[in-house]
Amino acid sequence: MLVLGVESSCDETGLALYSTTRGLLAHAVHSQVKMHEDYGGVVPELASRDHIRRLIPLLRIVLDEAAAEKDDIDAVAYTAGPGLAGALLVGASFAEALALSLGVPALPIHHLEGHLLSPLLAKNPPNFPFVALLVSGGHTQLMRVAGVGRYELLGESLDDAAGEAFDKTAKLLGLGYPGGPALASLAATGQAGRYRLPRPMLHTNDLNFSFSGLKTAVLTLVGGGLADGDRADLAAEFQEAVTEVLVAKALRAVRTCKLDRLVVAGGVGANQRLRQRLDSEGAALNIRIHYPELSLCTDNGAMIAFCGAQRLQAAAAGQNHGAFAIRPRWPLAELIAPS
Ligand code: KG4
Ligand code: ZN
Repeated sequence: MLVLGVESSCDETGLALYSTTRGLLAHAVHSQVKMHEDYGGVVPELASRDHIRRLIPLLRIVLDEAAAEKDDIDAVAYTAGPGLAGALLVGASFAEALALSLGVPALPIHHLEGHLLSPLLAKNPPNFPFVALLVSGGHTQLMRVAGVGRYELLGESLDDAAGEAFDKTAKLLGLGYPGGPALASLAATGQAGRYRLPRPMLHTNDLNFSFSGLKTAVLTLVGGGLADGDRADLAAEFQEAVTEVLVAKALRAVRTCKLDRLVVAGGVGANQRLRQRLDSEGAALNIRIHYPELSLCTDNGAMIAFCGAQRLQAAAAGQNHGAFAIRPRWPLAELIAPS
């Protein structure tokens, strides 16, 4: 079965073709970073219009790369939420129309489920069950994953998501959009520990997080301005504070569930310091850490195609042409099957 995946929830247009027998055949992403840069963040209307321009050329690219024709597609999976309403509508209309014209099912996919399952596309995929640390721009969640569609929420951020904290702190430090990678680069030139930031909720008895206080602490330190070296040291300390809490709670979650595997997904999963700390502290506890390939950490169509294929195989999806709905706010908890 050949599944086309369509991702358009925010500022990346991603298309991919996944074969249930041959794996990922092609994936292509257009990032809108350059377009939004001047505005310091994503402009939703511009994002929607750009998705419209990119979808058909990207479809051509993935079909060529996979040496396939439109008629070979057996299902079209698309991100139905959560995300920007206009951007989601563009991908949803495209996917539903294409599916209708081909007479194949259209599968609305939860964006975070896409991230959650993306490490299964790696060369040595983890077996179920595992604990997943989902760290994206909008969400920070720890999940126990027993199988496709079998998720148990163990803990989450009570305020800002980890990616959001990176983005907001980057802005305070005068860095451009997207803030996460920019802050990580600056942090690489600085030294953690010279400034001291709190480790929010590190010692609480639950698996929840809170990151909004960190940005306030950074704001106080930035005050009237900082020299370049000081900014780098503060960025390094911020990165250290976030990663320390993420690593401690993620590994604690794995031990609480009596498992030995942790899967990391979402944009912040691309952070090298986070990976370093997870690898070394995980190894000390005999916990194996799985990551998606770097190119599949941030938004992409491959994870949506893969998720669609899994759902199709689990026969969980039906045909619902003509009545598609997008969900700009769609809690992942709604996918959790009653135990
Ligand atoms: O998963 P994603 O691409 O989109 C969402 O679904 O939100 O995640 C984007 C988030 C942004 O907040 C971005 O700043 C952050 O991931 N991010 C990073 C890094 N690369 C992306 N944060 C820290 N370090 C990075 N290297
Ligand atoms: Zn995402």
